[in-house]
Amino acid sequence: MATATFDNSYLEENDNTNLDHIPGEYGLPFIGKAIPILKDLHNVIDDHYKRFGEVSRIRIGEQKGLLIVGGDNYKTIYLDRDKNYSARMGYDKTLATMYPDTILLSDFSDHKPLRRMFQSAFKNDAMRTYIDMMNPVLQRNIEQYKNEKDFVFFPAVKKTLLDVAAKVFVGIDDLDGEEAQRLADSFLKSSDGLTAIVRKEIPGGKFKRGKDGIAYQRDFFRKLVRERRGTDGTDTLTYLCNERDDEGNLFGEEDIIDQMVFLLFAAHDTTTSALCHMVYYTAKDAQWQQRLRDEANEVGSEFLSYDDLDSRVATDLVFHESLRLHPSVPMMQRRTIKACKIGGCDVPANTIIFIPPTYNHRMPEFWSNPDDFDPERFAPDRQEHKSHSFAYMPFGGGPHKCIGMHFAAMVAKTFMHQFVLTYDFTTTQKGAPKADYFPLPKPSDGVPLKLKSLK
Ligand code: HEM
Repeated sequence: MATATFDNSYLEENDNTNLDHIPGEYGLPFIGKAIPILKDLHNVIDDHYKRFGEVSRIRIGEQKGLLIVGGDNYKTIYLDRDKNYSARMGYDKTLATMYPDTILLSDFSDHKPLRRMFQSAFKNDAMRTYIDMMNPVLQRNIEQYKNEKDFVFFPAVKKTLLDVAAKVFVGIDDLDGEEAQRLADSFLKSSDGLTAIVRKEIPGGKFKRGKDGIAYQRDFFRKLVRERRGTDGTDTLTYLCNERDDEGNLFGEEDIIDQMVFLLFAAHDTTTSALCHMVYYTAKDAQWQQRLRDEANEVGSEFLSYDDLDSRVATDLVFHESLRLHPSVPMMQRRTIKACKIGGCDVPANTIIFIPPTYNHRMPEFWSNPDDFDPERFAPDRQEHKSHSFAYMPFGGGPHKCIGMHFAAMVAKTFMHQFVLTYDFTTTQKGAPKADYFPLPKPSDGVPLKLKSLK
């Protein structure tokens, strides 16, 4: 959708790497600080912040840029009053290699119509039908967990959420059928492809497999878009097929396909990561687990309805505290368009900026005992997340703020409701969890659980 009504010549510019006037450290040649970041992102940021301040130069993989922390800096970048921060170019060497022409990878007037495409798909009416569609899918999956010997939560919930995506986003009814299986398989390939170090389509290589996965999804969605136009399905794809732009026209087939492929990616691993941490912390903390179970019992039904969501107070606190400690998107990226000042530093045009929400989420000026799991910090009498408008930002901010944040919270609440009513659970994991940050955060061991059936 090439509709740019702004000067987009910056798309042709190379990244600026002339950053020697800004304090910092690039790390090793060629890979910079990629390895220490994979091992412990928080530690690397902490080290930079303490030695160089809120803005420091760094190299991550092939990209040189600025590592930024601090509430005020994030406010400037996300609210972007001067239209100076390009998401398209920020992700040019990463997400754009797999998901070009998608909503997150579009700037300003190119971005607006794509946001519009999702309008009906995430309104209350749609959300009401989504929760009813996902309830039986969750039930069937959660029931099956009890058959697994040496149950590990991460792979199980990943599969569960693929079933939810196939049903709710795509409208597939037969979740055991070949269509759903092939879609799930293509999705796993494409998200794995994004982790390839060599982003070249070498036959048999990870990146090529990822691209093949995307090609499969595109062909699959193309067929469905043609079938769904004008029908009254309540899955996300059908909403997109029937949505109209400001001039009253239906969106083009290729635009819908681009956004659907990205939607699967944006929704899946992020929600998987959030649920992994919610289950990890409530497996460790019997009191919070029981609080969630008591709350679930109050509903008096095995399924949550849309109208029950607001009263899931304890689950909501655990959801936010898990995302505070382990934001599913640990690093966002932008690129400056013009020269500007960030945190008092002169930042040249076309400079990559790395924005890790994870650090603001633990800054002592915003949070008490920031490393502790303490969901009550989000409760009305404490509201630590309001200490700064960018102290807590797991869903980003500004024009690209997550479109699926309410959907994600709904999945988390609906899943946890059924899970705590079905099982009492403890983790067999000893000591503090080692975290994986890449491609998205999760405890390294995938959260091994002992399940005791309550039904
Ligand atoms: C806990 C779960 C989730 C988290 C933590 C999360 C986080 C984020 C973040 C941080 C961004 C902004 C990225 C940036 O500014 O660079 C984003 C954007 C986005 N998310 Fe989510 N997300 C989650 C779930 C979902 C779900 C379930 C969906 C879809 C149903 C979704 C769809 C999107 C889309 C389409 C965008 C791009 C929005 C735009 O560019 O305008 N996300 N998400």
